[in-house]
Amino acid sequence: MPTHLRHLITLQHLGAETLEHLLDRAESLREACAHGTRRIDLLRGRTVLNLFFEPSTRTRTSFELAARRLGADVVNFDITSSSTSKGETLLDTLHTLEAMHLDALVVRHRESGTPEFLVRHAASGVSIVNAGDGNHAHPTQGLLDALTVRQHRRHFDALTVTICGDVLHSRVARSDVHAFQALGVRDLRLCGPGALLPAPGELPGCAFSDNFDSAVEGADVIIMLRLQKERMVATLLPDEAAYFERYGLSQTRLRRAAPGALVLHPGPINRGVEIASEVADGTQSRILEQVANGVFVRMAVLAELLAR
Ligand code: CP
Repeated sequence: MPTHLRHLITLQHLGAETLEHLLDRAESLREACAHGTRRIDLLRGRTVLNLFFEPSTRTRTSFELAARRLGADVVNFDITSSSTSKGETLLDTLHTLEAMHLDALVVRHRESGTPEFLVRHAASGVSIVNAGDGNHAHPTQGLLDALTVRQHRRHFDALTVTICGDVLHSRVARSDVHAFQALGVRDLRLCGPGALLPAPGELPGCAFSDNFDSAVEGADVIIMLRLQKERMVATLLPDEAAYFERYGLSQTRLRRAAPGALVLHPGPINRGVEIASEVADGTQSRILEQVANGVFVRMAVLAELLAR
């Protein structure tokens, strides 16, 4: 039985059945939209509030579209013009917004653990959805990456998945590992400069490497990550050209992967740093499919948490 979800904070410990159920729901919504359905009023009368303390293009926009397409009212809380700049605490902000009767709070925050903190303090009728916290988790990204792969490859247990780049600071990498492992991927390779890899004990069951040429060999899925300089406390890197030489996905390097390997990137991409433009825009790139799937995954999550 899929787990009944009230909040979505992390994919860790969610079983395959729950993940498959969410992916099936996202797929059904994608099919409905492909057949011309523009709005499904599952969440009419419900209110979703986007509370983003960090910048976002894809996640915030797709949560807004997802909520609107389900008929919910949506408020995008503008941090820069809010009273948080006058010293209002996160907890006071939460209780103030709750007093306006919201049903879900979609939160992104630079501090790992903030969504979990909000779960502990939120009113009983409010669902918290993690839209990315520090380097901890980005569960809807993990789901949309799994959905994008499932669109092209049905059997996760036969796949080799390579994630390359700044794994240390990446909440996407952690949620991808949790999703792909739960769905059955056995050969999961994490690659990057040694200074940008987490301790192996943090992500058991993965192979760690600082050699991209060998990590990409035979891979069916390659997920590239950008360098998250905003989370680095010291310069951990050579210059960008030297980085691209060792860890960038070029067309030449892509030829080492399995024929037709899928290329994913959560975005935003830094062309010429972790990925060549010819690969990002090439026939094997699934980057824009990921963006499109983001809306359906977020519709599925909101429907799961909020539909009566
Ligand atoms: N993938 C992702 O989280 O992108 P945004 O930062 O643009 O939301």
